[in-house]
Amino acid sequence: MTRCLEAGLPVASACSGRGACGKCVITVLHGAEALQAPTPHEAEVLARNGAGPDQRLSCQCDPEGAVDLLLTTGYW
Ligand code: FES
Repeated sequence: MTRCLEAGLPVASACSGRGACGKCVITVLHGAEALQAPTPHEAEVLARNGAGPDQRLSCQCDPEGAVDLLLTTGYW
């Protein structure tokens, strides 16, 4: 799976996908079960940014295999 930034999707970023800024938070509307669990680092950045349980850092999560995901952000 290509991450959102690598795929050219308009995802906010201030760290170029290094998992530091938290700007790329996405809300997963469908398909979350196909995503790997957040790493401790991603979980810490999500918590620091007040993210909800259905939110992930788009630069840090990949689905396992080919799946359909439905995503949104607060600024799309
Ligand atoms: S782009 Fe900065 S945390 Fe994802």
